[in-house]
Order: sequence, then structure tokens, then C-alpha cells
Amino acid sequence: MNLQDLKSAKVGLVDTPLATLEHLGEHLSKGPIYIKRDDLTGLAFGGNKARKLDYLVQYALDHHYTTLMTFGGVQSNHARMTAAAAAAKGLKSILVLMGPKPQTCSGNLILDRMMDCELVFVDTSAFAGQKDQKEKTKAYLDRCVKQIVEEKEKAGEKVLNIPIGGQGVIGSAGYIKAVPEIMRQMQEQNISAKYLVCGYGSTGTFAGLVAGALAYKALFEIIGIPVQPDYHPQAECAAFVNQLSEYYDLGFTCTPDMIRVEPGLPEDPYYGLGYDIPDEKTQETMRLMASLEGIFVDPCYTGKVLRGMCDLIKRGVIEENAGVIFLHSGGTPAIWSSEHLDFAQTVLWNDDHNIQVFKAEAV
Ligand SMILES: Cc1ncc(COP(=O)(O)O)c(C=O)c1O
Repeated sequence: MNLQDLKSAKVGLVDTPLATLEHLGEHLSKGPIYIKRDDLTGLAFGGNKARKLDYLVQYALDHHYTTLMTFGGVQSNHARMTAAAAAAKGLKSILVLMGPKPQTCSGNLILDRMMDCELVFVDTSAFAGQKDQKEKTKAYLDRCVKQIVEEKEKAGEKVLNIPIGGQGVIGSAGYIKAVPEIMRQMQEQNISAKYLVCGYGSTGTFAGLVAGALAYKALFEIIGIPVQPDYHPQAECAAFVNQLSEYYDLGFTCTPDMIRVEPGLPEDPYYGLGYDIPDEKTQETMRLMASLEGIFVDPCYTGKVLRGMCDLIKRGVIEENAGVIFLHSGGTPAIWSSEHLDFAQTVLWNDDHNIQVFKAEAV
């Protein structure tokens, strides 16, 4: 498959701004920091999944699918954006969310409900702590999915099963293609950067960028910051990058040592306490970015990635004046998820720093 021939459904906006983080750069005083604003991809408040969905939705349209089904955590950004892409193109969507139905509708779930897509909560907490938890969870999920698809097919629907995070060769095309876009913007703005730092979740974004960097001979190295402790091993990711190279005939081979993942120090990893668990250092980073730049990062992904990048700069792992680009991959609706509201209450509301109240008396 030739990348140039790949059609985009254009559900999101590309050519997102590449800008300078002037104040964060001054604050760390170790050289220039840039930001690639993929939080501004437009679709349902934006984020990295728009670039993947551009190609996944086109695939669905080309193959006459009527329904997009995808998977994620209860507060999945990818699921929210898939539902929005489906709505925009007149398709139906089913979001299969791993966990019990929460008591409160918050964050991404509010947006999911407003789009009136189908939500399926799959609660496998009964298997927690069992040694074959992963296998049992997968088997149970497979049974649920089979049942859903059979019902939909009986009703005349054709369901496209999009893996968690939009992971796969089709979705990652969006990030392979993001590389020449970034290289062009760097040239236009006379910017040089040795590194581009992004999140490492289902790995589609990272792997697409690595493939793009190798294919287009970019001068920057991609650094992935894992967002959870059980992140995909480098060998697995390299194998996926090679799959991209083969599928799109990009002509390179990737070895595991070319996959640069920076989880942080073992006693203080950037993923904090675990996937989507609030932690103080991520919250601190979110406030730092907001107060210095007026830009918001989220508590589950981009706050951790930014925290990691700042730490790598401070520790000199990213060398002084090397130039580094932070990929802002979106996720901001999670700021208002119930998982994070209690924490925000404690940190942002329980002290009156910078708050004044005037109360008029009736006259
Ligand atoms: C905001 C945000 N950033 C980063 C990621 C990680 O991207 P990927 O799953 O492609 O590794 C995700 C994944 O859902 C996300 O929602």
C-alpha cells in the first residue's frame, strides 16, 4: 500500500500549530521547547486519535461498514473521538468501556452521552488478583463482543471492530504522515530539535512517528513516555514499526534498541501510581503548564508525558539546547472526570491562595 494513495476521511484537522513554549523554556532554562498542538485537531475537543480516525473512518466508508465499535477505559478519549467521527460521517458507534458503570457521569462520558452513541460497560472485576486474570478478562470480553456483533448483524448492521486506541497499520498512517508535516513546519520556522516526546499507550502514535521519522529521515528522535506500568515491551513495538514499514513499503528495518522509551526512575516513574490514577507530580505539572503558558494538559496522558519531558530536560538526559518538541495529544476532557475532581478540589479549592471574595450588603 502506497501512503500517498491512502485517502483521508478528514474527520479532524491536520497541520496543527507548531509553537514555542517560551515561558516553560525560560522556567527550565535549558534551551528551547516546542509544542505540536495535536490537542487542536478539532474533532470532539481534539487529540491524537483524530489523525488515526481520518484513515480508519475512510476504511469503514470504503468497505461499507455502518457501525464503528471500539474499546477503552471508562474515560477513553479514543472512544469519545470515535463516536464523534462516526456521528460526523453518519455512522453509528458502540463504545465498549472496560469497567463498571460509574455512579457519576463525568468527563468524556458526558460527551459520549450527548452524542447518544451506544455504551457497553464490561466489568471484569470478579477476576481481579487471579493469576490468569488477563486471559479470563480477554475471554469474557471476546464473548461480550461476539454477542454484540451477532445482534447488530442480525439487525442488518456491518460492524467495524477498531482495536483499543485505534492501534493498527491503518490508524498509525496518520502519525507516519504527521512527520513530514512537522519537518516542513520546522523548516518554515527555522526550528531545529533533536527530540520529539510523546505518550506511549497502545503505541500507535509513537510507532507511527518512529516509522515516519525513519521513512522521511527526520533529524529528531522519538521518545515515548509510558502512561502505565505494564507498558508494551520495546520488541513488540519494534515489530509493529516493521509491520508499518512492510505494509506501506517504507524500506527500513527497526530493531528494539531503536525504540526509545523513558519511564523515569524506578522509584519515581512518570506514570505515577498507575493508569488514570491522580498523582501530585502530574497535577503540579498540569498547573505549571496552565500558569506559564495558558495551555492545559490532562491528568491521564499528557500531564505525565510533559512531566517526563521536563524531568528528562532537568536531569540532562535531554541535553541542554538540544531542542525538544512536546506532542500535545489532547485528552483534556479527563480534567473534569470524577476520577480527578476530588483531587482538584483538594489542591485547587481547599486553600484560598489568590482568591478574594467581595460580598455586598443590601443598601
Ligand atoms: C490524550 C492521549 N494521549 C496519548 C495517548 C496514547 O496514544 P497511543 O494509544 O497511540 O499510544 C492516548 C491514548 O488513548 C490519549 O488519549
